[in-house]
Amino acid sequence: MNLLVCPICWHSRPLRAALAATPLGLCVRVVTRFLSQEVAMHPRRRPEMKFATTVALVTVLAATASFAEGEDAGGIGDPAAGEKAFSQCRACHVVADGDGNVLAGRNARSGPNLFGMIGRQAATVDGFRYSRELAEAGQQGLVWDADTFVSYTIDPVRFLRTFLDDGRARGKMTFKVRKSGDAEDLYAFLNSLGPAADTEAGQ
Ligand code: HEC
Repeated sequence: MNLLVCPICWHSRPLRAALAATPLGLCVRVVTRFLSQEVAMHPRRRPEMKFATTVALVTVLAATASFAEGEDAGGIGDPAAGEKAFSQCRACHVVADGDGNVLAGRNARSGPNLFGMIGRQAATVDGFRYSRELAEAGQQGLVWDADTFVSYTIDPVRFLRTFLDDGRARGKMTFKVRKSGDAEDLYAFLNSLGPAADTEAGQ
């Protein structure tokens, strides 16, 4: 039914003229009239109404754009789904805070504690014996943000080979997350547990 009303002023008169035109013709006509401040077609509306409409449209567009930006800047993934996906990691990883409270997993120690991982330089958990490759990547500046975390967990070996530009690099983690959606959810989950590290690295 909306199509039966002018989308700019809600006046239904253009409908009669538009019925004969193609849908594209309708759009072009409405937009042209709008831009040229042509009011003849919409006798009951004044130019200031159009100004108000423009302001409203721009506000909506700006709000949409900033929302989309927020999504890019670390808002990926669903923490609740990530908590479930963590079942894939718990054989090797725990998430335990500085006081030793276990937030996820049991007490697996074959992989490093993932608490506060997001936003931190790779291979920096005290006391964990990392592979030479991951330690080197950390020294070269690898930080776990949304991109690096997702690529690493989807294929750690390939990630390290690319990052270090060394076709023989391996690292100690060979487990691969099969679905990139799971990797994103895990990112969101770990980020939600960590000590707000994302704000440091996400900028
Ligand atoms: C079979 C054991 C195993 C599984 C399963 C596993 N990991 Fe790992 N993970 C490791 C090991 C071992 C390392 C250390 C890698 C190295 O030193 O090269 C590691 C390292 C990591 C690191 C880098 C940590 C740091 O301190 O820089 C992240 C991030 C990570 N794992 C995430 C995950 C996630 C998320 C999952 C679940 C989807 C997962 N891992 C599943 C064994 C595992």
